[in-house]
Amino acid sequence: MSAELNGSRPAAAAPNTGQIRAHVTGWGRYVPSRVLTNKDLERLVDTSDEWITTRTGIRERRVAAASETTASMAAVASLRAIRTAGLDPDDIDLILLGTLTPDYWMPSTAALVKEAIGNTRAAAMDVSAACSGFVYGFATAQAWIASGLAKHVLVIGAELLTRFLDYTDRSTCILFGDGAGAVVLSASDQPGGALGIELTTEPQGAYMIWLPAGGAKSPPSAKTIARGEHYIRMEGKETYRFATKTMATTALESVRKSGLEPKDVALFIPHQANVRIIEAVAKGLNLPMDRMYTNVQKYGNTSAASVPIALAEAVNEGRLRVGDNVCIVAFGAGFTSGAVTIEWTADPARGIAGDAAVDPRDVHVRLPIDWDSVDPIPPALAELMARPSEVNPPLDDVVPGEPEPASHPVAR
Ligand code: ACO
Repeated sequence: MSAELNGSRPAAAAPNTGQIRAHVTGWGRYVPSRVLTNKDLERLVDTSDEWITTRTGIRERRVAAASETTASMAAVASLRAIRTAGLDPDDIDLILLGTLTPDYWMPSTAALVKEAIGNTRAAAMDVSAACSGFVYGFATAQAWIASGLAKHVLVIGAELLTRFLDYTDRSTCILFGDGAGAVVLSASDQPGGALGIELTTEPQGAYMIWLPAGGAKSPPSAKTIARGEHYIRMEGKETYRFATKTMATTALESVRKSGLEPKDVALFIPHQANVRIIEAVAKGLNLPMDRMYTNVQKYGNTSAASVPIALAEAVNEGRLRVGDNVCIVAFGAGFTSGAVTIEWTADPARGIAGDAAVDPRDVHVRLPIDWDSVDPIPPALAELMARPSEVNPPLDDVVPGEPEPASHPVAR
């Protein structure tokens, strides 16, 4: 197996250890263009911008258009990551896609993405670990690479959550949004890349966040739909308690397994569920908030997509340099949690060009022949989106270092 890293700079001076390591060589993200603000939601449920902002930090989220799917968003993010890595789609040996909102029960969304990006070689499968799905996929990719089974692995987190929300339940419908992020992990014998990994699953929390119907225990029927069992349910307080405890301990384990302490980590990329949870993680790690990346203000909770979207934005905003340690950490339904500490080795400047190289209008997921799907947008959301949107609130006061608007066609 070649130890070459396409499109990235391996950490220089350190000695060659002979061990195969997984380096991040590519990153990309995609979010739909349609913005749904807190003000918009005020017209749907008994809530307020003030309540949502102070309790969660969320100002707005993105909503996929009827023509978009989890696979289509994932394919755009993936091609951007592959271009950032300087690779061709057929260089990818394995595709792992974390999602709790697959396009279908079968085939896997990863299989649809494989075709959409023009890969003919890779094994492809979905990873089911809810909001931890991307981090679980990342850890799995690292193992495939370290064992010599794969040279380049595409790891994706993609979600289309706005189609699984009960728009009469103010405690959940305000939290979630749509989007996708992806990274390419590449084999190298150079030092750096993925270091310590920590993954946990605590099934006593299994029914704290769940989607009751649609699976084998409760297949979809007129009855389950009438009971609203096809929507996400959540015990917010219990989830909050679990998240604040586990995010800090999982991150700490991963950092220590890397032979580091939190102060040695330049940036944490936590799952973007609630800014108060992220503040609690910073407190738990005894670090200032400027070591925690946040973009929950702009996108809400995008579940498995949140960490790779945040990672791609952090790198493109210049928050990481070659040689920096970064820790990605997530928690989610299951309860699952996971963290990976990484020594960053890729040239951060490559991401902007990788984004610009892929126009979402050129990316297509093949549809079934002679199959007329029903309108996928929930009626309450469709009705809300049909009304003229409120003027978007300025984000400058809540998003530190908000990047300049891109001059290229990103994130339509
Ligand atoms: N607008 C106004 N009031 C609301 C809203 C809303 N959108 N939602 C709830 N309330 C009300 C409640 O009804 C309650 O009213 P009451 O006191 O009259 O009964 C009051 O606000 C307080 O409700 P709490 O649930 O105690 O509010 P809390 O401060 O806990 O915040 C929240 C709720 C934001 C959901 C918080 O618990 C949270 O962030 N939990 C974690 C959620 C999370 O991270 N989920 C990720 C899941 S990851 C995955 O795998 C999908």
